[in-house]
Amino acid sequence: MNIVLYPHPALRHAGKPLTAITDKIRKHASEMLALMYEAHGLGLAAPQVALPYQMLVMNPSADPERNDQEAVLINPVILERKGTLEGEEGCLSFPGLFQKVRRAKSVKVQAYDINGVEVIYEVPGITPDEQLRSRVLQHEIDHLNGILYIDKMGPIGKLASRSALRQLERDYRRAQERGEILPDVEIEKTLAALEAEA
Ligand code: CO
Repeated sequence: MNIVLYPHPALRHAGKPLTAITDKIRKHASEMLALMYEAHGLGLAAPQVALPYQMLVMNPSADPERNDQEAVLINPVILERKGTLEGEEGCLSFPGLFQKVRRAKSVKVQAYDINGVEVIYEVPGITPDEQLRSRVLQHEIDHLNGILYIDKMGPIGKLASRSALRQLERDYRRAQERGEILPDVEIEKTLAALEAEA
């Protein structure tokens, strides 16, 4: 398992809701957590590791010791959004690209944990910690629907990101030409096969 970079097609592939939490899914979740910590990320969504599932892991403290901040969310849905707040975001699939994104200040999310127990996250968005948690939740849940933070940037952020995105696109195509990344058609086939067996 590795983190895929923009413009890998898995990032635009909406995840399938999981109907069972198998040992395989649990293994994917723990590998995703390990990868997230290794990359010093705050969250990681299944499409970022080329898995077409509605599953994400997060720890807004980025500190593996802070267990209380760690969560695995399966089939998360945002039930409520309140207020808006602009803040800087990055993404492990876009190394080095940080831009301001406007998000809801507070969210209410329904999900299942790794044991299949329903969990409701009500994040008020009052303290900086809550605001970050709310932002991470929204960023990662977007990933599960094939939505990326570059879609949510304002016109200035989009303009400022253009050259970085072009560079990522060039690097990606070159890696494909070198045979380090499968052709997009093959990736799509793999994603479809994974969905079919989930
Ligand atoms: Co991201």
